[in-house]
Amino acid sequence: MSQFNFTTLGQFIIERQHEFPYAKGELSRILRDIGIAAKVISREVNKAGIAEIIGDTGEVNVQGEDVKKLDMIGNEMFTTTLSRGGEVCAFASEEEDDMIPLKGTYSKHGNYIVCIDPLDGSSNIDVNVSIGTIFSVYRRVTAAGTEPTLADVLQPGNKLVAAGYVIYGSSTMLVYSTGKGVNGFTLDPSIGEFCLSHPDIQVPKDGKIYSLNEGNAADFPAGVQQYIAWCKDKDKNTSRPYSARYIGSMVADLHRNLLKGGIFIYPPTSKAPNGKLRLMFECIPMAFIVEQAGGKAHTGTERVLDVQPKELHQRVPIFIGSENMVNKALGFMNATS
Ligand code: AHG
Ligand code: MN
Ligand code: MN
Repeated sequence: MSQFNFTTLGQFIIERQHEFPYAKGELSRILRDIGIAAKVISREVNKAGIAEIIGDTGEVNVQGEDVKKLDMIGNEMFTTTLSRGGEVCAFASEEEDDMIPLKGTYSKHGNYIVCIDPLDGSSNIDVNVSIGTIFSVYRRVTAAGTEPTLADVLQPGNKLVAAGYVIYGSSTMLVYSTGKGVNGFTLDPSIGEFCLSHPDIQVPKDGKIYSLNEGNAADFPAGVQQYIAWCKDKDKNTSRPYSARYIGSMVADLHRNLLKGGIFIYPPTSKAPNGKLRLMFECIPMAFIVEQAGGKAHTGTERVLDVQPKELHQRVPIFIGSENMVNKALGFMNATS
């Protein structure tokens, strides 16, 4: 293939626009704006270490600006970009207590809602380990032109129109779906464009990687403890023992498992019966991507995408990844419940 024969994210979005529900170009513009926000956040992430050096005591940089935490930079980048666009009427973020109605000139007339986890895996920033951004897009349920309400945001994952994530790793990648499969784009810093690098991602039905914070094992339900023990058993026929891999950034752990096959679990624990991960900002969008790639995502009691959210910062346990691995883990859960 010629070195000039590549597809940028912008080109791909336009080529696929006819597949979108209500194909009026609004969702295309939202996705384009998310791509722009992702590039700016990627730039900020890349200079995270140096910002401390060029800043004065880490509080104020040489231009006299505050050195902001990366999660807040991501948050602001999204609100600013999406307010300008006018297709999005409200925004919800892991970093904000409440939903934010956007104040752009045309925002009230926007038909869409965007939810984000601006920086996922924030504890990994300081140690130069992969982090991410997670986003999801819903169509509002109240009438356009009126003030958006919480009902517009608290929609189950089966109502999503698009979701995706950005991983800031050895390269920056944006992976998204509008419900017609999953495609991945790698940022080429030399031209400043996301280029299609992983078309039609399919998660293998089986894998050899299990990812969870095993340090908490004593607080896990018996089913999860038994599943981990099973993963460690020796059995040539099922390629066990599996490998344990846990980065502590959901985006990075799931991205690896999506490409290689594997399971990621954040189980309920005796201290946190609903687990740790947030339904709206982490579990629903990642479940959408994984299902679109042919995998499975479950809370242990129901499909993640069928959970009706009751509050913005609700948490749920999650078993997500290769279908056969998730089914196996759920088998242990059911046998011990
Ligand atoms: P965030 O940085 O957005 O708060 O998310 C961190 C999450 C998730 O990315 C990761 O999988 C999980 O927390 C790790 O939790 P433990 O440290 O409890 O394993
Ligand atoms: Mn997160
Ligand atoms: Mn976060």
